[in-house]
Amino acid sequence: MGFTSMQDRRILNDGNSIPCLGYGTFQSPDGEDTSRAVREAIELGYRHIDCAAVYGNEKSVGRGIAQSGIQRSQLFVTSKVWNDHHGYRETREACEKTLEDMGLDYLDLYLIHWPNPLALRSCWAEKNAETWQAMEEMQAQGLIRSLGISNFRLHHYEALMKTARVKPVVNQIKLCPGITQPAVEAFCQAEDILLEGYSPLGQGGVLETPFLIELGRKYDKTPAQIALRWGLEWGYIPLPKSIHRERMAQNAQIFDFSLTEEEVAALAGLKEAGGIVKDPDTVSF
Ligand code: A2P
Repeated sequence: MGFTSMQDRRILNDGNSIPCLGYGTFQSPDGEDTSRAVREAIELGYRHIDCAAVYGNEKSVGRGIAQSGIQRSQLFVTSKVWNDHHGYRETREACEKTLEDMGLDYLDLYLIHWPNPLALRSCWAEKNAETWQAMEEMQAQGLIRSLGISNFRLHHYEALMKTARVKPVVNQIKLCPGITQPAVEAFCQAEDILLEGYSPLGQGGVLETPFLIELGRKYDKTPAQIALRWGLEWGYIPLPKSIHRERMAQNAQIFDFSLTEEEVAALAGLKEAGGIVKDPDTVSF
């Protein structure tokens, strides 16, 4: 895990590469604040921006990217197809809308956001197969560079692979101190699928945890930095969200210290710090 900055890249199983830390946009409001925050994140050195249609802010994120003036090739942008657009034609429409909203010619990574939407409980596997076929075709056309999944468990992955020609490169799941997903982590490791962690600060919920505060004192770091460093050492790509410049800067300063093996294990086992993991087969959306 010899990363020296957030711009260091990890190799995906399709040969593309991805920066080892990303910038999250879940719950960033649609509007100027988010455009400004994205522009500042890029100024601070973030090169990996994680978005989704359902976050409702892709136009604002896209404006921030445009205002930053960064070369497109320097940036890694992810989006996700939401539950209301599973299916062949729907997925194509969703991806085209995301590209238009963000003002981009292509996405670096496009994910199926949830494997089993409420409205598709009886046919989720067929719908994922259709969705994936549309994604494969858009990849072949150059509209998407890499394809991935989010919130998938083993049975969702196995169902997808019955018809998939292209293997997912990542599985984006909830991970933070106190929240690990051993069964998902195991199949992803076995299949060479990288893990991305959303809510790596437990949406702020882990920051008051006494053990993180104590480790922060030991390393002269904030609890957020301890949580994100743990994420890197646990082996995933953390996607912290902040719209405050000083916090974005802080969240990237995690490459100048390391935790001990015992601390990594203890952080994994923290009790009730970062909320719960929703079961993708029973969620109410
Ligand atoms: P804000 O965006 O107002 O800065 P997660 O990435 O787990 O979803 O957590 C995001 C939440 O944590 C947001 O409420 C964000 O607030 C807050 N946050 C992000 N970075 C920090 C930080 N370094 N210190 C304190 N709070 C933070």
